Amino acid sequence: MTAASRIALVTGSSGGIGAATAERLHSSGAVVVGCDRTAPDERPPWLADFRELDVTDEQAVQATVAGIREDYGAIDVLVHAAGVLGEVPDLLATPSSEFARVMAINATGSFSVLREVGLVMQAQRSGSIVAVASVAAKEARHAYVPYNASKAAVLNVCWSLALTLGPDNVSVNTVCPGPVNTAMWDQLATRAGEGAPEGDQRARRARAAQIPMGRFAEPDEVAATIAFLTDPANRYLTGLSMDVAGGARLGMGS
Ligand SMILES: NC(=O)c1ccc[n+]([C@@H]2O[C@H](COP(=O)([O-])OP(=O)(O)OC[C@H]3O[C@@H](n4cnc5c(N)ncnc54)[C@H](O)[C@@H]3O)[C@@H](O)[C@H]2O)c1
Repeated sequence: MTAASRIALVTGSSGGIGAATAERLHSSGAVVVGCDRTAPDERPPWLADFRELDVTDEQAVQATVAGIREDYGAIDVLVHAAGVLGEVPDLLATPSSEFARVMAINATGSFSVLREVGLVMQAQRSGSIVAVASVAAKEARHAYVPYNASKAAVLNVCWSLALTLGPDNVSVNTVCPGPVNTAMWDQLATRAGEGAPEGDQRARRARAAQIPMGRFAEPDEVAATIAFLTDPANRYLTGLSMDVAGGARLGMGS
């Protein structure tokens, strides 16, 4: 297997990290099939194909994965980047319905995609999976309890999947980004800044100040790590949860 002959499936391909990853995998020669619940206005040149998919629809996940397997003969790489943020005032004010909504997309949706592609890779006895979790999976916060819990679920499912699929020559890893300059953070900053541009900038500065490198990541910096983890030369790496976070979680020193 060379990097150039691979079939790659990227979920969340219409979003910041998914699109940057699809572009990177395409530039390494892979044939990239994108999936997202939002279809792009025009298919970008790095996608060979696009399938509209809501990951909360288990039957649609099964049909889409089976369709890609049938049309392309294999799925060598899965990058699962589809996800939503969700924000609540604090844990004690969080309705269970909001917790369930975020879990349905980020946790159960991830589980369905990972299981279905895992079955394909198990049968072909090769493959590489990277799910996009978050540093939030390893942190407590007042206002993102459903999100953090859902990303912790992604981490744990991926560890178990790495265990299950190791004997089948399939690697399973997660990346855990800190804040990344994508629509997801635009949405968060707008809310935190109550719609005012200066409030938006204040929210970004406050978050960046919690990161030793002092800035957010660009989507392609996350994509570069995903490309590394899915490179055939790195096939012995499995069960990792790799922070791509400019040192976030180290603390800021004394
Ligand atoms: N931006 C950040 O700061 C950040 C940090 C850590 C982790 N992440 C994670 O990275 C991943 C990508 O996020 P992004 O920052 O590129 O945000 P984004 O909003 O630009 O992209 C997310 C994509 O997921 C798609 N999506 C949402 N719900 C879906 C569903 N039910 N079915 C199919 N597709 C769905 C959206 O349509 C969108 O295209 C997410 O899992 C997110 O949680 C983002």
